[in-house]
Parts: sequence; C-alpha cells; structure tokens
Amino acid sequence: MSLILAIESSCDDTSAAVLRDDRLLSNVIASQKVHEQYGGVVPELASRAHQQNIVPVVDTALSRAGINAHDLDAVAFTRGPGLLGSLLVGVSFAKCFALSLGIPLIEVNHLQAHVLSHFIRQDDEYEPPRFPLLCLLVSGGHTQIILLHSHFEMELIGQTIDDAAGEAIDKAAKIMDLGYPGGPIIDRLAKEGNPDAYQFATPNIAGFDYSFSGIKTSFLYFLRDQLKEDPDFIEHHKADLCASIQKCIVSFLLKKFEKAALKYRVRQVAIAGGVSANSTLRAGVLALGEKHHWKAYVPTMQFCTDNAAMVGIAGYYKYLKGDFADISLPPYTR
Ligand code: KG4
Ligand code: ZN
Repeated sequence: MSLILAIESSCDDTSAAVLRDDRLLSNVIASQKVHEQYGGVVPELASRAHQQNIVPVVDTALSRAGINAHDLDAVAFTRGPGLLGSLLVGVSFAKCFALSLGIPLIEVNHLQAHVLSHFIRQDDEYEPPRFPLLCLLVSGGHTQIILLHSHFEMELIGQTIDDAAGEAIDKAAKIMDLGYPGGPIIDRLAKEGNPDAYQFATPNIAGFDYSFSGIKTSFLYFLRDQLKEDPDFIEHHKADLCASIQKCIVSFLLKKFEKAALKYRVRQVAIAGGVSANSTLRAGVLALGEKHHWKAYVPTMQFCTDNAAMVGIAGYYKYLKGDFADISLPPYTR
C-alpha cells in the first residue's frame, strides 16, 4: 500500500492530489484567473500565483483525503515540460516537503501524466485500459498520437509540426475576440451553431502528423473578407463560426487518429489533455469506438485540464518500480 502526495504547477493551475495506490482520495485545483485580462498566461504572474496557492492547496488536498502528512510514502511532482518559473514553485515545494518528511521524491513528465490519467481508479467498477493503447494527447501546447505498450513505454506515432490543436482553437477565439481561454467558450457557443455553415481548408500532411497553422490563417483571411462586406459579421454569425471551426479542427484530429488506430491494430483508444474536454471530440472518439468495436476512453472532466491526480497516478506506477528522483534534479521546460 502506498500513499502519495502529487504536485502540479507546470502552467497556470496549482494543484495537489493524494492517492492511495491507484485510488484518488483528493484532487484540489486552484486555477489562476489573473491571466484572463491579458488574453494568455503571463509567466511571471503565474509563478507568483503558484507561490500564494501552493501551501493552501496542499493543505486542502491532505485534509480532504483525511491524511496526515506523516503518513505519506512519497511526493510526486511535475518536473516538466512547462514554464520555468511555474515549475520551480512546485518542484521546490515537493523537494522541501519530501526532505522534511524523509520520504522519496518521484519526478513526473507532464505529458505522460495526461496520458496516464486514464489509469486513476475512482470507483470499484472502473476498468483501466489495457495495452496496447493509442492515445490522442491534445492540449494548449501539444498535439500527439502516442502508442502505449506499457505505462511508460510510449511511442510517438505523430505530432503537430506547428501549432497545437488547443492553441489553434484559442487563436480562433482570439480572432473573434471571445475571451481566454477560447476552447471552452467556442465549445459552448458552437452548440447553438451549424457546423457545416463554413468550410476551412485542412492541410495534407504525410503520415500521422498534424498542422494547424494553415487552418488558423484560412479562418483569419475568411473573416477579413467577410468583415469588409459586413463589419458585424462575427457578431451575426458567431455560433456558426464557432461550430464550423470546431468541426474543422476536431474532424482533422479524429481522421488521423482513426487511421493510426487501424494501422497499429489497437482495440483500446483514448484522448487526453485540455482539448479532450471538448464535447464534439469526446463524442467523436466514443463514436469511433462504437464503429470499430474499440474500447474508447474519454477522461472525467477534472482530469482533462491540468491537475495533480494525473501526476499522482504516474507517480504511483513509478513508485511500484522504485523509480525515485534525486533531490538535485532541476525542472525542464521542454
Ligand atoms: O492541458 P491543458 O490544461 O494545458 C496545457 O498543458 O496546455 O490544455 C489547455 C487547452 C487550452 O488551449 C484550452 O482552450 C483547451 O485546452 N480547452 C478546450 C476545452 N477546454 C479546454 N478546447 C476545446 N474545448 C474545450 N471544452
Ligand atoms: Zn497539460
């Protein structure tokens, strides 16, 4: 039996979680509202907010789990990739905490943690995925198709050659002046719109790689032309625009993912990362599962965007292997 405290601070969410083996006991997330007025994450402000949040967030995670810090067996932390100033807060806190308790440290890669979130056991009935598992990791910083042979044997099958899917969605929202982060706003507005109202070109990229910068440019130029005719074009067609750009990006994501799953003959598929909160992507992956008789995993909402529970599950599997980190390890940004 193991009790692990996990810390996540790679970007703009300060989070702490407690797991007993692969069971989640608590998962506390403090999101930073300060960035909204700037239309994106401001690294210096993020790191300051982490400093303010980290102690209360850990304290709440321990008390919600009903755990005394002295009962912990290890501290897992996100080592990277992420913003250096943000990572430093979580990494330093984890080191001090583990050192003061005399327990081991476990370093976790943020992207592996997103993928492994599907192995968190929330109830007795839950059946975690089996291997091989094909995972589409889609966040604000990454778009990757990953083939898992085991928990930590992850093979990169394809990835974006420019923007990440989440970045493209956020930029589309920015062009329409919808607010930040744009993903959830577009998702909500799209529900009222016609996804076939407008078409945007998707690029022809070889293999299982993606590219999103062209879609963004095509969206930008389309709007520029329309705005010449009708200065209120965005306001008049907001829902249709959201539904159409969302469909374009999600269909592109799913088309390649389906091809990859067929090529690698997997029967277990999953999505992970912030964009996996998207309602059409979730429905699309479940539909693929039905069509091909694959078991399709979509993460619980609290595990889509950044959270420490996923760091905890990755930490647990490393704990089983005795894979502990040295106190001198620095964070990495890429
Ligand atoms: O994984 P994440 O929280 O942070 C990174 O590691 O990047 O992902 C954040 C991204 C943002 O681009 C955000 O707009 C997107 O996830 N996102 C969504 C939705 N919720 C969050 N995109 C589309 N639909 C959503 N419902
Ligand atoms: Zn993330």
